[in-house]
Amino acid sequence: MRTQVAIIGGGPSGLLLAQLLHAQGISSVVLERQTRAHVLGRIRAGVLEQGLVGLLEKAGCADRLHAEGFTHDGTLLSYGDQMFRVDFTEHVGKPVVVYGQTEVTRDLYAASDAAGGKVLHSVQNVVIDDADGDSPSVTCEIDGEPFRIDCDFVAGCDGFHGVSRKTIPESVRKEFEKVYPFGWLGVLSETPPVNHELIYANSPRGFALCSMRNAKLSRYYIQCSLDDSPDNWSDAAFWDELKRRIPEDQAAQLITGPSIEKSIAPLRSFVTEPMRWGRLFLCGDAAHIVPPTGAKGLNTAASDVHYLFEALVAFYKFGSTEDIAAYSDRALARVWKAERFSWWFTTLMHQFPGQSEFDLKMQIADLEFLRSSASAQKAMAENYVGLPY
Ligand code: APR
Ligand code: PHB
Repeated sequence: MRTQVAIIGGGPSGLLLAQLLHAQGISSVVLERQTRAHVLGRIRAGVLEQGLVGLLEKAGCADRLHAEGFTHDGTLLSYGDQMFRVDFTEHVGKPVVVYGQTEVTRDLYAASDAAGGKVLHSVQNVVIDDADGDSPSVTCEIDGEPFRIDCDFVAGCDGFHGVSRKTIPESVRKEFEKVYPFGWLGVLSETPPVNHELIYANSPRGFALCSMRNAKLSRYYIQCSLDDSPDNWSDAAFWDELKRRIPEDQAAQLITGPSIEKSIAPLRSFVTEPMRWGRLFLCGDAAHIVPPTGAKGLNTAASDVHYLFEALVAFYKFGSTEDIAAYSDRALARVWKAERFSWWFTTLMHQFPGQSEFDLKMQIADLEFLRSSASAQKAMAENYVGLPY
């Protein structure tokens, strides 16, 4: 088989890129290791920057997002029983949209089906050849049979555990990593959200987050130790601990119910440079990971896709290779700013093992400054709603 762009990974990055390219008449094939049901079974953050909303509109799959997504003009932050609001629209003139990543992926798959997109599932043993040459190809196995795709370019959208990043020689790659000494225990429950906006809580017992998927589906997290297990937490124990970490008035209005999903995620910051090697481009989690505190994972994958899409259009429409050459530097410039914000927000809101009394005082002073300073709130709002592409 021959295509213009071989895309490895059928998550949000790969699907969004395929859909955008299709709209420009540029052919692609998406190779996904898992089944579609497995991909759609993942529970992920759902705070969308306007840049991602715009890309989904350009890809022709934003109708349900506009119909069912929640516009959030601000967010709540609490420490102890204190709580204050950062108003995005007041400070930077734009909101975010709360809409589950699973739904984004579902909409992208529906758009791909409608466009006759080629998404091959249960693809095994993907190997990228000649990525730094002029004739890249991808080989793999489908139903045990060998399969080869000759292409002009390869988009590595295969996440942190994919093959694309590792295709770039170690002598070329430089990796940066910070592993946080805690995880997030997350619960999904068919209960109404405790508040119509998100609550990020700094508590002496640990961080907590009150989020949502829709008016009847809530998502809650509490910071936990890395050696903890979801099996250690009954629903009642989770709700009791969550109530201890959020302000009393919010705890009093929390509606609890059975968890329909309970899992622990570790937190890490990770970046690999460069994000391009010859005709191989890395997008999204294949190139970088953020702690979920700032909800930047999907949104930073989106800006990578934007830069790569623009570069490929410039190549195919105008024969220009300038944007292709600039892809890695351009994407990384925004990636590092998202990494910084995610690290800053994580450091501000979590309890760190072994932190001193002075460290705790610094956290509270930071929160008090954020509460009292319009310029501090504007800086946070700028990053939270999404820096420009
Ligand atoms: N071959 C084919 N597909 C692969 C391979 C492989 N060797 N390895 C991984 N994949 C697939 C995975 O099954 C997954 O569906 O690549 C896809 C990568 O999707 P994501 O991990 O969701 O990464 P991305 O599309 O960049 O989206 C980033 O998703 O993981 C969240 O927090 C992350 O919100 C961020 C967003
Ligand atoms: C979520 O709803 O899963 C979510 C929301 C905001 C975050 C992280 C996760 O910062």
